[in-house]
Amino acid sequence: MKTNVSLKSYNSFGFDAVAKQFAEINEVNDLQTLIKSGELQKHKTLILSGGNNVLFQEEVFEGLVVYINTKGIKTLREDESEVIVRAQAGKDWPDFVRFCVGKGWHGIENLAHIPGKVGAAPVQNIGAYGMELKDSFLQCEAINLHTGESKVFTKEDCRFGYRESVFKGELKGRYVITSVDFLLKKSAPLHLEYGNITAYLEQNGIESPTLQQLHDAICAIRDAKLPDVKQIGSAGSFFKNPVIESTQFEALQNDYPTMPHYDEPNGMVKVPAGWLIEQAGWKGWRDEHVGVYDRQALVLVHYGGGKGHDIVELAHRIQDSVEEKFGIRISPEVNFV
Ligand code: EPU
Repeated sequence: MKTNVSLKSYNSFGFDAVAKQFAEINEVNDLQTLIKSGELQKHKTLILSGGNNVLFQEEVFEGLVVYINTKGIKTLREDESEVIVRAQAGKDWPDFVRFCVGKGWHGIENLAHIPGKVGAAPVQNIGAYGMELKDSFLQCEAINLHTGESKVFTKEDCRFGYRESVFKGELKGRYVITSVDFLLKKSAPLHLEYGNITAYLEQNGIESPTLQQLHDAICAIRDAKLPDVKQIGSAGSFFKNPVIESTQFEALQNDYPTMPHYDEPNGMVKVPAGWLIEQAGWKGWRDEHVGVYDRQALVLVHYGGGKGHDIVELAHRIQDSVEEKFGIRISPEVNFV
């Protein structure tokens, strides 16, 4: 265990917070040893994976950061139509997607290029371009931070929702995911219907894309819209897209006929937070250290030299102004620590 470790390279916002204690887990055994040592009980604990979805609000994290860095991919079962593949929690997510696509395995291709690690993917049921992690998730293994015991969570146990799971909800802070099993298909229809995928493919003269071409197209679309965290700090989408009652939506549509929207199964309507934020005049706004990305208003960015608190303040100002204009309170997708 180390002390006073800078977390700057461990969070995609690039805030220079310091962890009072820091432990790196390179294999599952390291975690069990740490649990047995009783250190977790002594400190406030934060499990950190890719750090792509956290906001360190304070300059010092007065506790123990447990950094999960286990790697590896293993095929557990394979026949002519399906494959079950296990990835360790610390495996880089975009690498894992690239690996599966390279093998011709379908199911996570639309989740290409989402920064992060495999173990964090189920926590918020990552999603993009009409696909969610839960669609290909089979089960995961997680370790109980109090007892050190390992438990298998089925898809049902995980209670996935839109950017939600049991690990973010009632079991928050109680388990660490150590590996995830995916059920992937050797052939399946491609999902091209969402967003500007088809437009992009057409522009590039691709009529019926292969799995690899779809993967590469999604990488290119994301690159064009979202900042590269190696250059500009961010946590991807900062807010969730709000889901509102259809009556509220219809009233708003009278005033804003071009408001984009997606129907939800239960008669509710999902509205893009990025659109609301742009309409409220925030797109491209910046001060010295932080701002709202000029190509995607859902992304708050850190240009360097700022503090987590600057983003907290900006987020509150955006929430208040969107609420004032539309009567909708948007909520963050990012975890505040
Ligand atoms: N829009 C605007 N202005 C903006 C941004 C968006 O008007 O500044 C409009 C777009 O024109 C479009 C709609 O809002 O009509 C939706 O935009 P987009 O398709 O870019 O997707 P999103 O709803 O903003 C979600 C996910 C992303 C994911 C994309 C693509 C959430 C919170 N975000 O964004 O996820 O990549 O769809 O599927 O659901 C992430 O979680 O970090 C993330 C990037």
